[in-house]
Amino acid sequence: MSPKKLPLSLNVICLKLLSNQLIHALSDEEGLHQAEVQEYMTPSTYHTLQYLLNEILGLINLDASIRFSCLQVLLREDVKRLEIGIFPRFYYDKILETISENGRGLHHLNLKGVWARDYPELLSNLLTNTRHLKALIIPHMADDSVINSIINLKSLVKLDISGEACYTSIGISKLNSDTIRILDIGSFGKPNLCQDCPLSGYELMAEIIKNLPNLNVLKTYSFTGHALLHLYKDDHNFKTKLTYIHTTDCNLDILNAIANTCPHLENIHVNRPQEKVVRELSKIPDLRSLKLTKGNGDEFLSFLKNAGEKLHQIKLNHNKSSLIDISNFCEYTPNINSLEFYHMYLKFSNLDSFYVNLQKVQILYCDIDDTVVKSMLTNAPFLKSITVGCSIQMTDGDMFRLLGECTLENIEELLFSEARFLTAITVELLADNCPKLKVLGSLVGWDITPDEIDALRVLISITNTDLTLWPVAY
Ligand SMILES: *[C@@H]1O[C@H](CO)[C@@H](O)[C@H](O)[C@H]1NC(C)=O
Repeated sequence: MSPKKLPLSLNVICLKLLSNQLIHALSDEEGLHQAEVQEYMTPSTYHTLQYLLNEILGLINLDASIRFSCLQVLLREDVKRLEIGIFPRFYYDKILETISENGRGLHHLNLKGVWARDYPELLSNLLTNTRHLKALIIPHMADDSVINSIINLKSLVKLDISGEACYTSIGISKLNSDTIRILDIGSFGKPNLCQDCPLSGYELMAEIIKNLPNLNVLKTYSFTGHALLHLYKDDHNFKTKLTYIHTTDCNLDILNAIANTCPHLENIHVNRPQEKVVRELSKIPDLRSLKLTKGNGDEFLSFLKNAGEKLHQIKLNHNKSSLIDISNFCEYTPNINSLEFYHMYLKFSNLDSFYVNLQKVQILYCDIDDTVVKSMLTNAPFLKSITVGCSIQMTDGDMFRLLGECTLENIEELLFSEARFLTAITVELLADNCPKLKVLGSLVGWDITPDEIDALRVLISITNTDLTLWPVAY
C-alpha cells in the first residue's frame, strides 16, 4: 500500500491560517490596514515573517498589489531570505526601493521576475545597503555600476548574472572576490560574454576565473574549457578550485588543460567533444558526474571500462546514430545512482546485469522498446524514481507479471508519459503493492477516462493515502 498522509504540524497549520488572514487584510487598494497589520506582526520572529513573505510572494496568481503590500508590511531588517517572484513593470522601482530600505539584513535575494535592468541606479543603491548578502540572483540585469556594487559585497558566495549582458568587458573584468564560490554567467552556447569585447570571450572568461580564486562552480558559460586552455598556456602551474564546468567543442589540448588546471573537478558537461576526447575523460581523476552531449557511444563505453567505477551520475544526450546497450554499463559503474537519457537510442540486452545502487532513471524522447523500461524496474532493486517520456506498449498484464518478478518496494515515483495500454487496474495494482509509492502518472497518456481518475482520487482521499496522481489538475 502507498503510505498514509501525516497530519500537518501545528506550526504549518497556523502559518497557513495567518497567511490567508494577511492576504485578506491587505487586499484593499489603499492599504488602509497596513499600519495595523505591521503592528500586529511586530512581536513575531523573523522566521515567521520570512515564511509568510515567501509563501505569499510565491502565489503568482494572487493580485500583484496584494503581494506588494505584503512585501511592504512583512519585510523587516532581520529577514534573511527573499524570493520576489514575477511582478508587472509598474512595481519594479517600488520593489527595489522597498528592499533597499527594509531588507538590510538579507542573506539571500532572488530578483528573478523583476526586470531591474531598467533601474541600474536603484539596483546599485540596493546592493550598497544589503551588505550581508551571501546569494544574489539577478540574471539579465547587471551593468557596470551594478558589478561595481557587487565587488563590495564581502560575504557573497553565490552570484547569478547569467543571460544577456548590460555590462562591458572592462566592467566585468573588474569582478573580483575571494568569497564567490558559485558563479552563473553568460548564455548557453555563446562564446562571448558581451558585445563590445576587444578580447576573445575565452580570454575575458580566463581573466574572470583568475579574479575569483575560490570559485568552485561555473555555470551556464559553455566554453570554460577554452578559457582554461588560455590560462594553462600562460602558466603551466595555474590551478583553480573548480569542481564543475561546462565545455563545448573540447579537443585533446583543452581536455589536457582542464585536467591540469582543475585538480578538484568532479562534475563536467562535455558538449560536442572532438574525436578521442570522451575516451580520455579518465584523465580527470575524481569525476563523479558526467553529462555528455553529442558524444561518441563507443568511446563512452571504453571510458566507462577505464574509469566508470567512480561515477555516480551519467547523463547522455543527443546521439541517436548508434544503439547503446545500457546493460553494458552495469558491470563498469557499480556506484551509479542516477541515469538520464535524452534523445538517445537504447536497448537493454543482458538481463542478468543489475544496477545495485541506481535510485533514479529518466528516459526522455529516446528510441526504446519495452524491455528497457521493464529491465530498469526489475534489475535496479533500489530504484526510487523512474520517468519515461516516450511511448511504451506495456499492458496491465505485463505490470502484473512484473510485480511477480520484483517487489518495487523502494519505488516512490513512477511517471510514464505515454502508456496507451495501461488502465486503472495498473494504478490500483501499483498503489496496493508499492509501499513507498507517492507519485504516479501521467494518467493523461494512459487508457483511463476522467471519470475513472475522479473515482481513483476519491478512493485515495477517503483512505488518507499519500499518493498524488499526475497531472494534478485533470
Ligand atoms: C554517436 O556515436 C557514434 C558511435 O557510437 C559516432 O560514430 C557518432 O559520431 C556520434 N554522433 C555524434 C553526433 O556525436
